[in-house]
Amino acid sequence: MRAADARSSIIREILKVTQRPEVISFAGGLPSPATFPVDALREAFGAVLQAAGPAALQYSATEGDDALRAWVAARETAKGIPTSPEQVLIVAGSQQGLDLIGKALIDTGSTVLVESPTYLGALQAFALFQPKFRELPIDAEGLQPAAIDAAAARDARFAYVMPNFQNPTGRTLSRERRAALADKARALDLWLVEDDPYGELWYRQAPPPGLRLFAPERTIRLGSFSKILSPGLRLGFVIAPQAFIDVLVRLKQATDLHTSTLAQRAAAHVVTSGLLESHLPQIRARYAAQCEVMLEALRANFPREARWTQPDGGMFVWVELPAGVDATRLLDAAIARNVAFVPGAAFYANAPRANTLRLSFVTVPPERIRAGVAILGELLRERVADAVKA
Ligand SMILES: Cc1ncc(COP(=O)(O)O)c(C=O)c1O
Repeated sequence: MRAADARSSIIREILKVTQRPEVISFAGGLPSPATFPVDALREAFGAVLQAAGPAALQYSATEGDDALRAWVAARETAKGIPTSPEQVLIVAGSQQGLDLIGKALIDTGSTVLVESPTYLGALQAFALFQPKFRELPIDAEGLQPAAIDAAAARDARFAYVMPNFQNPTGRTLSRERRAALADKARALDLWLVEDDPYGELWYRQAPPPGLRLFAPERTIRLGSFSKILSPGLRLGFVIAPQAFIDVLVRLKQATDLHTSTLAQRAAAHVVTSGLLESHLPQIRARYAAQCEVMLEALRANFPREARWTQPDGGMFVWVELPAGVDATRLLDAAIARNVAFVPGAAFYANAPRANTLRLSFVTVPPERIRAGVAILGELLRERVADAVKA
């Protein structure tokens, strides 16, 4: 039976609590609604219906809207990675891309390499096909390619990697490691699944080039419009060698025929109008400022025994508490004081580390970030003192 596991239920339980307005929630993974380009989308939907009429409401090609595929290919090409529209498949959010990749590549019992920790939604998508997960360690420079040797890669179909501002840690893979990972993929005959919904959300400078630059023939790249336009549009894309796109097209056809015609046309209208040139800098500046407030609050309130990441982009800070402090227990105490976060254990495929947690800072106003982190700091100092005594 393809049943959901316990990991997803903890997040659902937390989200129930966080719907109460008095709760300061660092738990959600949602982008800030203040960044949704409502006016531009209203205008785009109107313009598309006006110009195309019924054709904008008809069934359409599984591969996706021609203009949107061409835009994705041109943007990737402009980043120095030559890409044709035939190498692009439009999907209903990159989450659907993860599902289709799982369907295409995983047999029951085959191995999937994942970062430790990794994106919970990918674990859920892949788990449906009953692989064995093998965890790869990450440090300040991201995934450690040296950990992928012949033994680790045995029976592995692919390595699932978030090179930019990883969810949940906010970490970024260095350029050297991207090149080393590409070498490993070639040497060990592996696919690299590069999931990159946050790459455009850099604060000061763009991250290093994507994995496709280093191994275009072995990389399946996932992108998303969720964090740069809006997640409710449900639009993402897969870029891969055309033969693999053909496989995914057949699988997508059986799943949902195609992604929403109207949403794709509206998105194409918005992005080809050049909106992102002014819109992306606004999102970047907003998230950079929110992140700075969070980091300052952590420095001011968290005990010195705690460690946290310093993201260069994206939406998350990852905290490591002293050994012996359990973030799930901390969460119970925090919820009693109307503060929420996600305990890190949910993000591990096999070997959860109980002393970790993820803080999302983009939807919480600065004064509430400060208040929430002050409460967490207070609760933590009590627990650290107890852990030291014990
Ligand atoms: C790493 C990662 N991949 C994929 C997704 C799914 O995004 P989409 O809205 O494009 O389906 C998310 C959403 O939070 C994510 O964090």
